[in-house]
Amino acid sequence: MKRVISGMNLSVYAIGLGAMPLSLERRPDEARALEVFRAFIDGGGDFIDTANVYCLDNDDIGHNERLVARALTTLGCRDRITVATKGGVTRPRGAWETDGRPAFIRASCERSLRDLGTDCIALYQLHAVDPRVPLEDTVGELARLQAEGKIRHIGLSNVRAAQLEAALRVARIVSVQNRCNVLEQRDFRNGLVDVCGRLGVTYIPHSPVGGYFGHRQLGSHPLLRKLAQAHDCSPQAVALAWLLARGDHLLPIPGASRPESIRDSLTAVSVALTAEDMRALDALG
Ligand SMILES: NC(=O)c1ccc[n+]([C@@H]2O[C@H](COP(=O)([O-])OP(=O)(O)OC[C@H]3O[C@@H](n4cnc5c(N)ncnc54)[C@H](OP(=O)(O)O)[C@@H]3O)[C@@H](O)[C@H]2O)c1
Repeated sequence: MKRVISGMNLSVYAIGLGAMPLSLERRPDEARALEVFRAFIDGGGDFIDTANVYCLDNDDIGHNERLVARALTTLGCRDRITVATKGGVTRPRGAWETDGRPAFIRASCERSLRDLGTDCIALYQLHAVDPRVPLEDTVGELARLQAEGKIRHIGLSNVRAAQLEAALRVARIVSVQNRCNVLEQRDFRNGLVDVCGRLGVTYIPHSPVGGYFGHRQLGSHPLLRKLAQAHDCSPQAVALAWLLARGDHLLPIPGASRPESIRDSLTAVSVALTAEDMRALDALG
């Protein structure tokens, strides 16, 4: 099953890989990380989400981007995988803080180019809006980086509809990446997912199986377990199939630190939920 990222004029496999768990505190060793990428690519995956701050702290910036770059080189598939990264956040002593100043965005982007070993980033996402910096200034710098050929497309993350609309007045935005899963349906309720659909913006649900900390809760949810049994799949595959069925412009990016997890997530494309299943799942969030 394919998805078209219309703003990029690109067709990708309907489930991407969120590479974040490969670089945070519980990260696996590099050999196992490579097996995660291999499982994803062997299963047909071709869209990887990373960020410069998927790392331990400011001394470790770029860990995940360098890991992705090395893995794709080792697996010999750099040319056919789309890598999306992000800038606009820092990790002082391991905390997560925004920094949307244009000079910081530029420096982060230039470092990401080096860490990814590329001269143009396919999709560069503003990781989060910095409330101290006018969004127009931050997005204006992204537009300049795009005009200079350092980034091909611009995305946003952790935004509301009004912020997307403000950014669209400054630059072409092709994607929005927000927290969204069957137990956290905020962006369906507030209309942002529909707004993205109308504007031709791909909606990328992050934390699609409950998040780095919440995925166990989702995996043990009684309704998800019941539907998993009925469809002979995992609760996580049910959660991902629900997202896929909610719109053609949704591209979930489940994370994984084990190859088994991403292999299982890729099976979601063949889970056919009924209208009754969908109604029951819609009522959860
Ligand atoms: N833009 C943002 O602010 C933001 C924030 C958070 C995440 N993200 C992005 O979104 C991606 C996904 O979010 P996430 O990794 O936080 O949360 P997630 O995808 O909801 O959950 C990730 C965890 O769930 C487990 N899991 C995933 N699929 C599974 C399956 N089919 N069966 C069993 N367990 C499964 C994995 O466990 P194992 O580790 O045991 O494999 C993984 O560590 C991230 O990797 C990152 O790229 C972006």
